[in-house]
Parts: sequence; C-alpha cells; structure tokens
Amino acid sequence: MITPNILNSGTISPAFFQDPNIWNWFKDKVFPTSWHYLTDNQRFPSTLRQAPNLLLPDFLDEPIVLTRNADDRIQAFSNVCTHRAAEICTHGSSRDKIVCPYHGRQFSLEGKFLFMPEFEEAQNFPSEADHLFPFSVEVLSPLIFISPEPRYSFSNWIDPLQSLLSWLPLKDFNYTANNSSSYQVDAHWALYVENYLEGFHIPFIHPGLHKILEFGAYEEYLFPYGTLQIGIAKKDENCFDLPVGSEHYGKRIAAFYFWLYPNLMLNFYPWGLSINRINPINPNHTRVEYFQYVWKEALIRSGAGGALDQVEKEDGAIVKSVQRGIQSRYYTGGRFSPRREKGVHHFHCMLENETQPLNT
Ligand code: FES
Ligand SMILES: [Fe+2]
Repeated sequence: MITPNILNSGTISPAFFQDPNIWNWFKDKVFPTSWHYLTDNQRFPSTLRQAPNLLLPDFLDEPIVLTRNADDRIQAFSNVCTHRAAEICTHGSSRDKIVCPYHGRQFSLEGKFLFMPEFEEAQNFPSEADHLFPFSVEVLSPLIFISPEPRYSFSNWIDPLQSLLSWLPLKDFNYTANNSSSYQVDAHWALYVENYLEGFHIPFIHPGLHKILEFGAYEEYLFPYGTLQIGIAKKDENCFDLPVGSEHYGKRIAAFYFWLYPNLMLNFYPWGLSINRINPINPNHTRVEYFQYVWKEALIRSGAGGALDQVEKEDGAIVKSVQRGIQSRYYTGGRFSPRREKGVHHFHCMLENETQPLNT
C-alpha cells in the first residue's frame, strides 16, 4: 500500500493502470484541470491574430482557438461555435474577427459574440452562453501553456523551474521543427512518466548515458507539482557554464530534468531545451511528442543531451516490458528505493490522491 513515508510505502496498486473508472476520472477530472504545454510564440507568431489547436489529440481532443488581440495579449477559448458546435477557427489568420464557417456567427478576439445572421426574431438572444468558453493561458516566452479549468495556479506549477533557471535566456531559444518528432509507446502514460522520474535505471538501461553522467552524484528534488533531477557530468563531459550566484553554481551539470504534473517534461541541456509531452491514448498506448528549442547550436550533439534517440528507444523498450508485467496476475505491487526513487514515490502519491474521490 502507498503511504506518505517512502521508507515503508508500497508502490501504487497495479489496478491504477487498468481500471477503466480511474482512466475516465483522469480524462474527465484531472487532465482538464491541469496545466499543459500547448505551443510557442514562434508557431503562433505575432503576424497571426487567431489559430486553431487541439489539446491532447486522441485523448481530450479539446478544440482550442488561440487569439492575439490588438495589445498583443494571447488568449485561448473553446474553438467550438456556440450555435451548433462547428469549429470556428480552421486555420491561422490575421483577421480580427473569428467567423464560423458553418452559418457565419462572428466572435471578437476576446471571445465575445458579435453577430449572427437570420436571428433577428430569436428571443433572449444573444445571452452569456453565446460567448466562447474561455480557457486559461500563460506565456513563459517562447512557451505557451494552457489549462481549460485550472485547479491550481500557473505560478505554483512553474515557479520552481522559473526561479532555478532564471538566468537562462529562454526567450532566445528557437523552436526547430526538424528535430521535433513524435512516436508511440505501447504502455500506459503513467508508466512512461514514472520511468522518467528516476535515474536508478541509468546504469542498467542506458549504457551510453551512464558513460556521461556521474551516477553517485545524481540529484533529485521534489516540488508540490513536479520534480527536478540533476545529472552531473563526468570529467571532460559537456556541462552548463553556470553564472556566479546561480543556485547550483560550482557543479558540473549536464542536464536539468524537470517534470511538471501530470505529463510534461522539460529537459535543459547546455545546447537548449527538449520538451517531452506525454499524450495518453488508451491504457495501453501513449504518444510521446518531442519539441526542441535550440539555444547554442554548436553544442547540439554532445553530452547528456546528445544521443537522445538512443535513450528514448531504451526507455520505450523497458516501459513496454513493465506494461506487460503490470498486468500479470502475480504482480501485486513493489517497494521503493528510499535513495533512488523519491520522484516515483512522489508521483504515485499524487496519483493516489487524485483517485480519493472515487473511493468515497
Ligand atoms: S455552427 Fe457556427 S454558425 Fe452555425
Ligand atoms: Fe531512462
């Protein structure tokens, strides 16, 4: 059984990964109330006033329209027409009105109903319900984040990352489409996440990465909505040139691995940032999407952030093996290494907490 004390806690029940009620609970109540990385202001450039997007395709499938008003403020709304539910914005455009392609209903870039043809005789129209449903948006330039109905503030979620890496010129990081990709993992999304949350497996699963990182010096930190793992570079391996006064100044850091609840990973390397967005599909399949933001082009193929494809393949294979194991009638749950699995324990506690309403 899982308990708050890692010293005597068991892992989460294997039923978590298989119970359809839990799956649906996360889909309906957890993911829509969490924060998500959506895009960036290079793919939604200042020349555009509106653009469609989709939150977690093949899972939430929630249509979104991003808008940029005359003051350059980015907002997001449900991209669903309040008439008969057509998607109102179908492509990026510089128009300052959103016009539904189905019957011509018009909305402002602030999501307000403006006009509807052939409705002159309709009574009590328009009403509040005719405006677009607003979503919460936050920008940490160049990254754009969204939550349909946030349960906790964006700053609570992002602050640990922002304060630790405030010295990084994130706004100068450039999205590079040709290094960004996506692929499918044959496992539950939470198994992919828990594998990410420990460096314990590095010597066993990632021989290449193990040659670069100092296993004994690996660090883990827990936050209310995430974790940070720090990979320390072996002598002669590439590391950050940390500014004097920054929190970890003096350490040879090869990578900052941030995970933000529930499904976002931001991996900072001396060359820039690699984001993994973990998209649940069904209890047996997950799509992992990679988005690369380059800061120092010359460093891109080196250090812990070098052979990322190989590391991914190794993780994909072991997570698939765990997916099979978790369904075995003879596996009833395990225990945690107090030294090496604090992040996984933290994650399991969060998952367990989310399911509490289902048990009452
Ligand atoms: S569905 Fe949009 S105007 Fe009819
Ligand atoms: Fe791994």
